[in-house]
Amino acid sequence: MSTKIYAIANQKGGVGKTTTCHCLAAGLHAQGKKVLLIDLDPQSNLSVLCDAVTDAVNKDAVTMLELLSDKSTFPDVIQTMEDYDIAPASMYLASIDSVLTDPIGRPFKLAEKITEGNLRKKYDYIFIDCPPALGTLTSLAIVAADSVIIPAQADILSLQGVSQLYSTIQSARGHANKSLKISGIVLTRFNARTKISREIHEMFLTAAKQMNTEVFKTQIREGTAIKETQASGENIFKAAGNSNVAQDYKSLIKEIFFPKEA
Ligand SMILES: Nc1ncnc2c1ncn2[C@@H]1O[C@H](COP(=O)(O)OP(=O)(O)OP(=O)(O)O)[C@@H](O)[C@H]1O
Ligand SMILES: [Mg+2]
Repeated sequence: MSTKIYAIANQKGGVGKTTTCHCLAAGLHAQGKKVLLIDLDPQSNLSVLCDAVTDAVNKDAVTMLELLSDKSTFPDVIQTMEDYDIAPASMYLASIDSVLTDPIGRPFKLAEKITEGNLRKKYDYIFIDCPPALGTLTSLAIVAADSVIIPAQADILSLQGVSQLYSTIQSARGHANKSLKISGIVLTRFNARTKISREIHEMFLTAAKQMNTEVFKTQIREGTAIKETQASGENIFKAAGNSNVAQDYKSLIKEIFFPKEA
């Protein structure tokens, strides 16, 4: 089985999880790949960036909440956008613990739904955007995924977040998802010119070694093209393909998914 389902996770907020999902989807689409984005964050940021219909827009929208509460299935929850597909979040995903009542089946709920929907056959890549918390939603993603990509910023709190996430990954490996991999850590909004960024980069290298993974060589620089294309709802590869951030995500895609060509 080739790796194709990635949880984009870090319980630290604002480290670039959603932006990374969005840019990986746009960049892989540009390479002719079929991509599904799954938004598991009650904030629904990814759904909004993709212009998907959520229950904040239309109360009858079918979202990941309906899917996880067995009121819907995967083909029905997926919305087809111009460049990729998205299964949108609901703000009510915040109450997921009251929805998943079966204590034994609960960790596997998303994994089961992905299997039932035959999604591995339908997509080249599936990215699950996790919320900034180590609760049930992130666990569902980690159990359903083949591998975890960890976006992080070069600050000390972000480093602490990564080691906490590692404990969650290790506990999933012990029971619910024995073959779970960690693709690596991607440093986002990175400024290589500051001494502190370089020092924290070194600390990330040490932490990654302990986790038996790597810090990707590609760092994502801070760039205005992100905010501009997010505000206008555009695909960064189409609207600002020459921007630093688009170029960085392009290199990251090569490094992660096509390492032989990198
Ligand atoms: N490379 C970048 N350059 C400039 N701004 C960026 C970059 N990456 C992300 N941002 C901005 O940083 C903010 C946080 O990014 P994002 O929403 O992707 O993080 P997140 O980890 O998904 O946050 P949350 O934990 O709340 O879900 C957003 O306003 C986004 O536009
Ligand atoms: Mg997010």
